[in-house]
Amino acid sequence: TWTPSNIIEEQVAEIRSRVGDKEVICALSGGVDSAVAAALVHKAVGDQLTCVFVDHGLLRAGEAEQVEKDYVAATGIKLKVVDAQDRFLGELAGVTDPEQKRKIIGREFIRVFEAAAREVAAAGDVEFLVQGTLYPDVVESGGGTGTANIKSHHNVGGLPDDLQFSLIEPLRTLFKDEVRALGIELGLPEAMVWRQPFPGPGLAIRIIGAVDRERLDLLRAADLIARQELTAAGLDRDVWQFPVVLLADVRSVGVQGDGRTYGHPVVLRPVSSEDAMTADWSRLPYDLIARISTRITNEVAEVNRVVLDVTSKPPGTIEWE
Ligand code: XMP
Repeated sequence: TWTPSNIIEEQVAEIRSRVGDKEVICALSGGVDSAVAAALVHKAVGDQLTCVFVDHGLLRAGEAEQVEKDYVAATGIKLKVVDAQDRFLGELAGVTDPEQKRKIIGREFIRVFEAAAREVAAAGDVEFLVQGTLYPDVVESGGGTGTANIKSHHNVGGLPDDLQFSLIEPLRTLFKDEVRALGIELGLPEAMVWRQPFPGPGLAIRIIGAVDRERLDLLRAADLIARQELTAAGLDRDVWQFPVVLLADVRSVGVQGDGRTYGHPVVLRPVSSEDAMTADWSRLPYDLIARISTRITNEVAEVNRVVLDVTSKPPGTIEWE
């Protein structure tokens, strides 16, 4: 019978015999899949595993800390953090085209990970790379843009020939809810286990316009408020994803106190979905939306308008870019 502890035992034994005394490397994204995959491998081979976390500066508030502190505390995993924020922001400067943003982020991610992997490999006999591939990723052959992009970013493909590893994919037969059950059983931080799916290119594709530190900070502040209020309302698990989008190149007139403002709108895009292929806009309670709106316009300078996206997918995509 399927129980999280059975699966864990089975996987741990299999990984242990496959790895032997070799070294293993894994890229953590902040998401649940790579976190659970790495935790399983760590349970099997301990410090023979080194995890690499590339901090590109495009995660939401608190998420980098979640990986660097909470996750490490919960698992005892050996983690190499690469602060690559300046590099990513430098490469992204002035770029507005969504596909161009994706390309740059994917390319830089590979370069940074490659450099880190070389350092790890120089210190030991690294033969394996862990990936958090799930069953739906295995059966999907590609297709839609979201899928293709997910693949090209999440899989650390594109490494040079002299840096090729055998893959360990301990989640290959599992669905998301099963992976979450494993994460809980393995004692991972709840916030990580229950994190909404989040795109590899992160907040860069939730800023409509060029990406810079100031805009990222604005968006992070607004996004955090939306998440906090959703959680406070007890509705976390009722939405599939809740993108908050900054229309950085749009300004509208507002009035605050006795002053006229000329600020940016943010869009709330809560959706319900089974698999992200189709989605519907979430019918969140109006009083929750009102609280989010009031808090964002009060607490985030520069944002003077909050709008709600009521488009299903299709025709809209979940993300705005
Ligand atoms: P869309 O916006 O196409 O998104 O409805 C479908 C799902 O894919 C995620 N998404 C991405 N994930 N890299 C990723 O890793 C990407 O470039 C990317 N674009 C969209 C999106 O968050 C949703 O879950």
